[in-house]
Amino acid sequence: MRIGTPNSHSATRVLLLGSGELGKEVVISLQRYGVEVIAVDRYPGAPAQQVAHRSHVVDMTDPAAIRALVKLERPHFIVPEIEAIATDALAEIERLGLAEVIPNARAVQLTMNREGIRRLAVEDLGLPTSPYAFAGSSEELAAAAEAIGFPCFVKPIMSSSGKGQSMLNGPSEVEAAWSHAQEGGRVKACRVIVEGRIDFDFEITLLTVRSQARDGTVQIDFCEPVGHRQQGGDYVESWQPQAMSPKAQERAEAIARSVVDALGGRGLFGVELFVRGEEVWFSEVSPRPHDTGMVTMVTQSQNEFELHARAILGLPVDTGLRRPGASAVIYGGVAAMGIAFDGLAQALYVPESEIRLFGKPEAFPRRRMGVALASAGSVDEARRRAEAAAVAIRPLEVSEELVS
Ligand SMILES: Nc1ncnc2c1ncn2[C@@H]1O[C@H](COP(=O)(O)OP(=O)(O)OP(=O)(O)O)[C@@H](O)[C@H]1O
Ligand SMILES: [Mg+2]
Repeated sequence: MRIGTPNSHSATRVLLLGSGELGKEVVISLQRYGVEVIAVDRYPGAPAQQVAHRSHVVDMTDPAAIRALVKLERPHFIVPEIEAIATDALAEIERLGLAEVIPNARAVQLTMNREGIRRLAVEDLGLPTSPYAFAGSSEELAAAAEAIGFPCFVKPIMSSSGKGQSMLNGPSEVEAAWSHAQEGGRVKACRVIVEGRIDFDFEITLLTVRSQARDGTVQIDFCEPVGHRQQGGDYVESWQPQAMSPKAQERAEAIARSVVDALGGRGLFGVELFVRGEEVWFSEVSPRPHDTGMVTMVTQSQNEFELHARAILGLPVDTGLRRPGASAVIYGGVAAMGIAFDGLAQALYVPESEIRLFGKPEAFPRRRMGVALASAGSVDEARRRAEAAAVAIRPLEVSEELVS
């Protein structure tokens, strides 16, 4: 792999589509190799834009906007960081050989739609998943839920971070679940998936890297399983390693390998799995770093962002665990622009702790504004430390009149 000088005729350029906190860390990793990074989001001052060489504010669901960006910036690699992208434009760009889409346009297309990835997992790969059905109206939803049985989950086929998702306990809740899905879906008149509830012991993200081996062949590596706790479809706490039986871990790795090989391309994937005893179910997959994987910033010498950057660039990877660790989310707590955070020193008095504040211009009570990380000799101690560091951080509104 040859890398040029950023901002020069020889530059190796990456166009990052979506500029959240995960993208910010990917940018930092790429910058360390002297890659020129252009970060795109729908609003200015997004986290990854703050550390990129340049940025653009565009509607990434508009294919013409994506094509114009590629024409203007001539990237070597396009790295999607979010799901809401005009993927048809990516497919066209890939077909014309204008840039390499990470991991590839088809994978991005399949995983942005719960129907696409679920059908691939079950119909093509024969993987175990929750029982499921699709519905395009509240009547179809009622019938589908009845067939799957209660309780079941209803999710818009195009949504992320728990948006529009609800758990159905009985037929009387169908109408509310349908409306909630329509409000939370990424597109109008969004179909929904109905999933039977898996009664799992715990859920994991298996961070899986598809990289190029020394001899040019494809190499698959797994990180130690990341355990996590979700609230309302959004992660609040994660830890690594999640202890699991050797048989379950073997099954988890076999499922992850099967999924990422079917998707193809180079990069890091977050394979979400449910585990009960020795049984493992596939849930979904992100063809990019995963929010629960932020814990790897304190547990691995090559964290998930570094692994993604290396895989993109065709460099060797090492997924080894250095020390157990945990992450705990820091929320906005308030709805305001330009909030401040008190308690950073107190947080960092917690042994082996680290804090990331993402720098998002606007806070909402449940918006993820930062993350507390901690390592320790055991996962239990690391979780206590991360939690202690997170609660030490106190977000507050700052009145503009008093400051300026
Ligand atoms: N069939 C199911 N059985 C049991 N729990 C489920 C099921 N589906 C979803 N959940 C719970 O809800 C969480 C969020 O679901 P899912 O990952 O499908 O939503 P999402 O909107 O894609 O979330 P994200 O984008 O944050 O990954 C899961 O991590 C799990 O805790
Ligand atoms: Mg998920």
